[in-house]
Amino acid sequence: MLRRREFIREGLAGATAVLVTKYSSLAARAADATDTRIEILPEEVLGTISPNIYGHFAENLGGVIYDGIWVGEESKIPNVHGIRSALVDEMRKIHAPVVRYPGGCFADSYDWKDGVGAANNRPRRTNFWANTEDADGEASHKYDTNRFGTNEFAQFCKLTGSEPYLAANLRSLPAEDFYRWIEYCNSPSGSTTLADMRAAGGSAEPFNVRYWGVGNESWGCGGNFTPEEYAAEFRRYTTWAPRYGQRLSFIGSGPNDDSWNWTRGFFEELVKKGKQEIRSVYGWALHYYAWNLSRGRTTNWIEGKGDALKFDAVDWYELMRQGDVMESLIEGHWQIMGENDPEHQVKLIVDEWGPWYKPGSGLTPHNQLEQMITLRDAVFSGATLDTFNRHPEKVAMAACAQLINCLNSLYLAHEDRFCVTPVGHVFGMYAAHQGGQAVRASFSAPNVSYTRDGKPATFWGLKGSASMHGKDLVLTVVNPHVSEARATEIAVRGTRFGSGTATTLTSSDIHAHNTFEQRDAIVPVTKNVEANSKVFAYTFPPASVTKLAITLD
Ligand code: AHR
Repeated sequence: MLRRREFIREGLAGATAVLVTKYSSLAARAADATDTRIEILPEEVLGTISPNIYGHFAENLGGVIYDGIWVGEESKIPNVHGIRSALVDEMRKIHAPVVRYPGGCFADSYDWKDGVGAANNRPRRTNFWANTEDADGEASHKYDTNRFGTNEFAQFCKLTGSEPYLAANLRSLPAEDFYRWIEYCNSPSGSTTLADMRAAGGSAEPFNVRYWGVGNESWGCGGNFTPEEYAAEFRRYTTWAPRYGQRLSFIGSGPNDDSWNWTRGFFEELVKKGKQEIRSVYGWALHYYAWNLSRGRTTNWIEGKGDALKFDAVDWYELMRQGDVMESLIEGHWQIMGENDPEHQVKLIVDEWGPWYKPGSGLTPHNQLEQMITLRDAVFSGATLDTFNRHPEKVAMAACAQLINCLNSLYLAHEDRFCVTPVGHVFGMYAAHQGGQAVRASFSAPNVSYTRDGKPATFWGLKGSASMHGKDLVLTVVNPHVSEARATEIAVRGTRFGSGTATTLTSSDIHAHNTFEQRDAIVPVTKNVEANSKVFAYTFPPASVTKLAITLD
């Protein structure tokens, strides 16, 4: 039976075309006003929401880099130094805090030296993902021209106001290359040969890259290590690196979903050299994709996938159930990390997350792993971001997989066409949480009840998260019910609500999505809210993500 790690290692991919089916819209019905309540407790601070929870992932895979980000300086497509202007503009709007690059699995086959120096002299290399590209796929997606390299990525980060997070190659390059890449990026102007090379590429000033991934999925495509072997490699790679006064934060290649043994094995082995080894790890990367929509029928990586566009209400709830697993993964791995790191110096970095569907729904034919993004993915993403917000002391960073033209994309682009997906709109709404003080919000709502393969099933009725910036409250709420609105009583303890706004992303069609032709088929809508009391009533539409931004008295 094919599992995810084998898929990644063996490079298999199914590519069947699917038909887009539009379902008729589902009628909304308001639930009883008295049975749903949210209480905000501004005095119960959970911690500061790291802006980096709202981070992104851009792998050299399919149409992410070439076409998505990089269009080239000579292109007619509006660009800044070769980088797609529309993307830069949108990322600035959502305050994109950090971007992880160049992989993913690509990272452990990438030689950073190929992507520096004179652009015309850069070598062409076979991309890690070439084996699973369609025969009709773009040449640049199979054979990396290396036109987009470290300087271009640093430029992209600068333009978008993001911090770079580089994933280094542990499987196929020596430790020396790891610290030389740091030297290339961070050594002061004029200080080293590599700093001179960086300057020749257009940047005399160092990039001051703080976040460094030490391999990627080292349990699979990143070397197929045991956790003990990986821990030894991690120690070796991080034993010495040049600092230049820059804080370096090393991120270990953590588990795939509930691989508890990977987490336990790594930390137990790491501290065999002494408890102080913990200090070499800033973050522990968790990857979790919601891919199995088979309702328990299979764990096969190909057969278990659902369709991005052709789904019914039960499939909708199935994706929500898969997404809901995230909270238990955060809590479970955190607990295990605490066995050897009782002070919890190491934080969780959920640097790959999102739904993963079967191929064929992407806007651009032959773009590997591109899938259509619907309202379902937006609601899923809102619920996931709320989960991170509720654990600010545990999750220091996250990266939605991926930024553009791949999996849970915020943006889709091809040549001169570009659109923001419903997931991109959710990031726009949730940006208001960045850097806020997460406060406790208790949700009480009747469960959604439905029939799952002939058996009664339930899913939570309403959830969300709350944060404060001074007196400004941001409350984000997900109503996962496909057809029922939730009339809700919202209360605040110890103070009163003033006025503010409510921004909602929803549609009468649960399959709603944006395309190059219909870029605004689904967009958030904002209205004023006059609460001016301790308690107010608000109705959350079915299948929706809502942000309430209200000043407290
Ligand atoms: O995001 C696509 C792939 O999924 C990444 O390259 C890898 O890390 C994960 O398995």
